[in-house]
Amino acid sequence: MDEKRRLHPEEVSIFVDEDGSITFSDLPADLAEVARAIEKEVCMIKREIEPVRMEDGCVVVLDQRLLPEREEHVRLTNAEDVAKAIKDMVVRGAPAIGITAAMGVAVEALKAKDDNEMEKLVMNACECLIRARPTAVNLRWAVERMKKVYEGAKGMGVARVKEILSREANLILEEDIAMNREIGRHGASLIPDGATVMTHCNAGALATGGYGTALGVIRGCMEAGKKIKVFACETRPYLQGARLTVWELLRDGIDVTLICDSAAGYLMSRGEISCVVVGADRIARNGDVANKIGTYTHAVLAHTHGIPFYVAAPSSTLDLTIEDGSKIPIEERAEEEITHFRGQKVAPEGTKARNPAFDVTPWQLVTAIITEKGVFRPKEGGFEF
Ligand code: MRU
Repeated sequence: MDEKRRLHPEEVSIFVDEDGSITFSDLPADLAEVARAIEKEVCMIKREIEPVRMEDGCVVVLDQRLLPEREEHVRLTNAEDVAKAIKDMVVRGAPAIGITAAMGVAVEALKAKDDNEMEKLVMNACECLIRARPTAVNLRWAVERMKKVYEGAKGMGVARVKEILSREANLILEEDIAMNREIGRHGASLIPDGATVMTHCNAGALATGGYGTALGVIRGCMEAGKKIKVFACETRPYLQGARLTVWELLRDGIDVTLICDSAAGYLMSRGEISCVVVGADRIARNGDVANKIGTYTHAVLAHTHGIPFYVAAPSSTLDLTIEDGSKIPIEERAEEEITHFRGQKVAPEGTKARNPAFDVTPWQLVTAIITEKGVFRPKEGGFEF
């Protein structure tokens, strides 16, 4: 084929022909490096579920509020709209909101005409994006990374700074997918062939760059040729499990059964669940895990029934600045998410409601934490990363 597309010329030159075949040049001596580069490119090309991407100066997000009924994308042109989309959960899931925020900084920078304007736009964007949601540390991690890269690029000229920031945001996305695939590979080694895995919320492609953490482990098992079944908890009140996890797994042809959150204990008591795998929004230094409300309940139940409870998360979810989970800010969302269902009132007028969106599972209940670096198990006083 004459028409070839060149990807990442500064790493290894990889060419994708129109028929999808891959060739490469400029081989580095280390063949393992080449293999990793190819794998990374192939997984980018094959990103079938794209929760977020940057295109023509916009952040394009798949509107997760409409799934599974409709697949519609929203084009966001400034950081304020990106922050609102994160708050309103158009895009959600810890790594995905970090990537989206980084792209929000990059598209805002594209508007700058001179150095002064660039400084204002980037700083304001960072400040507004970092406050969009409090619990997932990936958001702060990504925004601070963009800020640091900007500080390093300052003075190189507006055009170059724009290029550097856009490149960094895309790199955060690509690295997230690569980390997820590693999590999947490590996690698959823990799950026996024939297992039934229970998961909560959506820690899949939609919640990340496009592969998943908890669902990355499940995808890793499938890629390793293991036959597994999944119980997806519906995840009240926002139904990330019912709407998003089931949608993703059905698309992949993975055997998934939807259960209501409160069925977990019964199914565990009957020996129908082999292990639990969930994602995380923030992991403290000792291994306490903040994740979607209900996760702690599942961990207590798993502990009572002697069932392994695994947490899968990239290192961008680790917050080593806080010693334990008591310091993790827990988002409280609108009462209407509980008193109403899709705009329809389900509780009597005047009902008081509490809607903490996350809870904290103490490290003692966590069998292992799977990151891209490997499988961590607790020591006497907690986890050591
Ligand atoms: O409120 P959400 O939908 O953003 O919460 C998402 C979760 O709790 C996920 O389990 C977590 O972010 C891990 S995603 C890989």
